[in-house]
Amino acid sequence: MHRLLQRQIDRYLGEQGAIPENLSQFLAAVSAAYESADADHLLIERSLDLMSRELTERNHEMRNELSIRQRAEGQLEFLLSLLDATLESTADGILVLDKDARVVRFNRRFVEMLHVSDEVAALWNHDTLIENLQGQIKDPAAFTEKLEYLCQHPEEESYDTFECNDGRVIERYCLPPPQGEEKVGRVLSFRDITARTQAEQALLREKEEQKALIKKLEEAHNQLLQSEKMASIGQLAAGVAHEINNPIGYVNSNLGTLEKYLQTLFHVLAAYEQAETAMCDSHVQAEIRTLKREAEWDYLKQDIFELLKESSDGILRVKQIVQDLKDFSHVDEAEWQWVDLHKGIDSTLNVVHNELKYNSEVVKEYGELPQVECLAHQLNQVFMNILVNASHAIGPDGHGRITIRSGTQDDKVWVEISDNGKGIAPENLKRIFDPFFTTKPVGKGTGLGLSLSYGIVEKHHGRIEVESEVGKGTTFRIWLPVRQSAG
Ligand SMILES: Nc1ncnc2c1ncn2[C@@H]1O[C@H](COP(=O)(O)OP(=O)(O)OP(=O)(O)O)[C@@H](O)[C@H]1O
Ligand SMILES: [Mg+2]
Repeated sequence: MHRLLQRQIDRYLGEQGAIPENLSQFLAAVSAAYESADADHLLIERSLDLMSRELTERNHEMRNELSIRQRAEGQLEFLLSLLDATLESTADGILVLDKDARVVRFNRRFVEMLHVSDEVAALWNHDTLIENLQGQIKDPAAFTEKLEYLCQHPEEESYDTFECNDGRVIERYCLPPPQGEEKVGRVLSFRDITARTQAEQALLREKEEQKALIKKLEEAHNQLLQSEKMASIGQLAAGVAHEINNPIGYVNSNLGTLEKYLQTLFHVLAAYEQAETAMCDSHVQAEIRTLKREAEWDYLKQDIFELLKESSDGILRVKQIVQDLKDFSHVDEAEWQWVDLHKGIDSTLNVVHNELKYNSEVVKEYGELPQVECLAHQLNQVFMNILVNASHAIGPDGHGRITIRSGTQDDKVWVEISDNGKGIAPENLKRIFDPFFTTKPVGKGTGLGLSLSYGIVEKHHGRIEVESEVGKGTTFRIWLPVRQSAG
């Protein structure tokens, strides 16, 4: 029983003297109840104590956890804002797509570069954004297709460029995303490379121009070399022609006189032959017959004139060569005229008809030509040389084709003569304009045709181009100015 109650009961019972039996039992019962309640009370107190300690510990742990979480959240917030700042401060436009190629993020630079309107950017809606982009790009279908392709092939590295409607060129670059367990889509970066592309193109153009200039310089240099060579050969040729001209002249005239003398001589001899029987005895006649036999008299009489004829032909040929050399060295003084070149070509074709008719078909593809100021007779010589060369290149039994084309460019006209003959070996191509360069057998070519032609065309302030492929054919193209500038 509770001690305070026990003391009260003891004081009261002490005044009463003795404790009645019923009360004693009652008090015992009360005392037992109290003791049992005390025990429970103690138990409860201890439990409460335990719980309170546990609660305190838990509280402590929770406080710790809370502060850790708060720190983590702070860190996360910092990282996110760092990421944002990085995304916004990069010079490239960034577009982030999820694995279904849908837009999940883009930065300000992207918006500016691809002219995404503020309203669309604010909406942050995939479809609206893509529609807006497609409106800016020259080939929108290819753009979207590429985005989808990249998302479907996350392992692929990609670099390409595309053009905007306003002419800007944008570079698109995309590295494969880190390969985690889950595919994360794609991060694409865009860079405006218009200025760079323009600079590259300008550089390329400049390079091309430089190349063309170098080629022109090379051509000019070659022409200069060629014309210097021609000039010095021309001087030499003029000298040689001059020196040969005189002896050829008197050899030619002497041959004519010699022929006449021989004819007279044979005439006189014939008279003697007729008087032979009357003038000589049989012994002398026999001696004369023997001498004539030994000298092959009849053959000699006939051959002597053939030899003279051959010599005259030879001399005529040499004269022609000398004339060619003269023409080559200083093309003569014929008059400049305004001429229809097609007419000249046609008349030249008539002249060489015999040469061409057996082996070649001539195809004319004339363009429109204005009248050209030229030395017509000399130009016809050029056409003739080239036509005869073409026929020789085709050969005697070839069914060849010679095509003659013509046309104009700026203030120049051109005439082109192509054949499908045997062509010119590359090592000979540089030499064909040299005087006396020939690949033809003796008697067929002197090697002067093209060098003469070169001189004539040069005199017209034009040029001759040649292209040839062995086994396929050759094309000569003659360029002439329409008008000879004064002086
Ligand atoms: N159309 C051609 N096809 C193939 N080779 C050619 C052609 N034209 C010229 N040639 C070559 O160029 C060489 C020089 O030609 P060029 O006209 O100067 O002299 P040629 O024809 O040999 O003699 P010439 O014209 O004085 O009678 C020729 O021998 C030949 O080898
Ligand atoms: Mg020739």
